[in-house]
Amino acid sequence: MSDKITTSAQPQGPIEPTGEPGKASTLSRLVGRMIGGSHKGRTALATLFLVIALAALVTIPYATGRGMNVITEQGSTDELWDWVLLGFFAGGVYLLASYLANRMFAKLAAEALYSVQTDLFNNVQTLSMGFFFKNPPGELSSNVTNDGEVVSLFYTTAVSQILRSTLQVLMILVVMFVINWQLAVVATLTIPLLIGVAWIVARIASPAFNRLQELLGEVSAFQEETLSGHKVIISKNRHDWAEEQHEEQVGGVYQVGKRAFMASLMQFPATQSLSLIQNVLVLLAGTFLVASGEATVGVVLAFAGYSALLAAPLAEMANLITTTLNASAGGDRVFRIIDERPDVVDAPDAVDYEFKGGRVQFEHVDFGYVPNSLVLRDNTFDVAPGESIGICGPTGAGKSTLINIMTRYYDIDGGRILIDGQDLSKLTQHSLRKQIGVVLQEAFLFTDTVMNNLLYANEDATPEDAIEAAKKANAHDFIMALPDGYDTMLTERGANLSQGQRQMVTIARAMVADPKMMILDEATSNVDTRTEKLIQDGMRKLMEGKTSFSIAHRLATIRDSSRIMVLNGGEIVEMASHDELMADRGFYYALYMSQFKGRGPAGDPAEIAIDFVST
Ligand SMILES: Nc1ncnc2c1ncn2[C@@H]1O[C@H](COP(=O)(O)OP(=O)(O)OP(=O)(O)O)[C@@H](O)[C@H]1O
Ligand SMILES: [Mg+2]
Repeated sequence: MSDKITTSAQPQGPIEPTGEPGKASTLSRLVGRMIGGSHKGRTALATLFLVIALAALVTIPYATGRGMNVITEQGSTDELWDWVLLGFFAGGVYLLASYLANRMFAKLAAEALYSVQTDLFNNVQTLSMGFFFKNPPGELSSNVTNDGEVVSLFYTTAVSQILRSTLQVLMILVVMFVINWQLAVVATLTIPLLIGVAWIVARIASPAFNRLQELLGEVSAFQEETLSGHKVIISKNRHDWAEEQHEEQVGGVYQVGKRAFMASLMQFPATQSLSLIQNVLVLLAGTFLVASGEATVGVVLAFAGYSALLAAPLAEMANLITTTLNASAGGDRVFRIIDERPDVVDAPDAVDYEFKGGRVQFEHVDFGYVPNSLVLRDNTFDVAPGESIGICGPTGAGKSTLINIMTRYYDIDGGRILIDGQDLSKLTQHSLRKQIGVVLQEAFLFTDTVMNNLLYANEDATPEDAIEAAKKANAHDFIMALPDGYDTMLTERGANLSQGQRQMVTIARAMVADPKMMILDEATSNVDTRTEKLIQDGMRKLMEGKTSFSIAHRLATIRDSSRIMVLNGGEIVEMASHDELMADRGFYYALYMSQFKGRGPAGDPAEIAIDFVST
């Protein structure tokens, strides 16, 4: 007997861009978070330290050159010492100022990263159900992790490095042209080549690294899928297929990885040799200029130092360009999530829901997930406080959708929903959801102790409340039998519990939350009859005296409801008690009979749990 219910909610493609028009580019938004806005003052100070550090750095070759001149021109030892001391002093200033600048930049980077991560996380929390259907959790968490990483790298290295490299190049160029323009021209001859190499490396390595990142994402997604689907793979003997698929993907990683690594590995020798060539050119030209009396030996020595200081930041450019391009792509996706606004928002004049017994009225309600395609059509009903309503109907009829709009996970397209006479669209979502408990077919548990899972939905509850709820939900006995009782850690989403046990824990959790109304969606499938009885007994206690809606495929489950709502094709076709519906011999009667047809004469139908979908 299969009770597997086909889930109808499918992911609807990638995140749609929702950034406001005219928004600044991703890069300037990223950079702005680090050094813009209220950070401008600190950025200016950090930059000042950087300039001091670089001025000191530029002084060192100068002092060395002047010292050399003292030697070649046979000046006094005192004068030589002055230059040596200046060199050491400059070195000290360089270290100190660099330290101060880096410290400030590091703090700015950490703050920027923190702000991006917080905005990302907080915004995702505010988004409506629709967003999570469009963006499956796997993809979302990979976005958050991978894109977060490249953005982090950008903040921690690229922003301050780019500033430093640019300033260093500019200052050295100025100093060189001031000291000796002929030598300066020679020393800058190889710059276009250095930039060229950086550009080529960035052009080859960056797309290759991007592709590599993508492929690695695919590989890990596949690995995750095969790991979580291992039962299917083992039972169907599809090891060969899994291995082949994996081999193919890893092969792609190998090819792309080879290209990416090669390009970045070649960068160092290429720039190194260019920098040496530049040095040779400076010395060569210097020799001529010294011979013709247009430069001193000291100046030539200083220029040798400058050309090395010039090459280093240029050589770094390739990495910086790559990091920046990656951050721009990653930042795009990050901001798209940060800019995403919830579909369902509280009205500006929204008020808190006030519980008055739990009457639920639908007045000509229309709803569709996508425009021009209604899933629910013109639904009208009135549920009295404390009534228990069973909902049934073929798969895809709109049962889950009905509860999705009742809890306002989506806004409706037409009509009105009133809860205790209050229009749903005028209520705050928070106050509403606090009063409506929902137990879904897929019991969701956190990787935490059983106790914390029970207490999750009600911050005021005590461990005693939790144990009492577990007893009512018939979960206490099996929890006590777990290795650490209530302190047992649940592994990933409660994987170390059976499905029935997970449901009992969720029911106990709903009891701890103590909502005023209950909604249950297929909460009793896939368990044995004994467990089902235990679960149903727990649910009965949970729903006692409360308005409740329970969706069931097995009609026996909802037989005793005050009234049963029969949905078909998005419309309520019947709504009455079991006995009345049976007497009417309509849609429900046909469904009911089809579930027990051919199951033999024996037994009370309520005892036999059969899924009509599979019959
Ligand atoms: N998130 C969604 N986006 C778009 N369409 C959806 C979404 N969820 C459900 N639908 C569509 O709405 C219709 C009703 O789906 P719903 O989940 O309410 O059915 P159901 O009665 O609960 O079925 P089941 O018994 O299989 O759980 C289906 O045609 C389904 O394809
Ligand atoms: Mg459903």
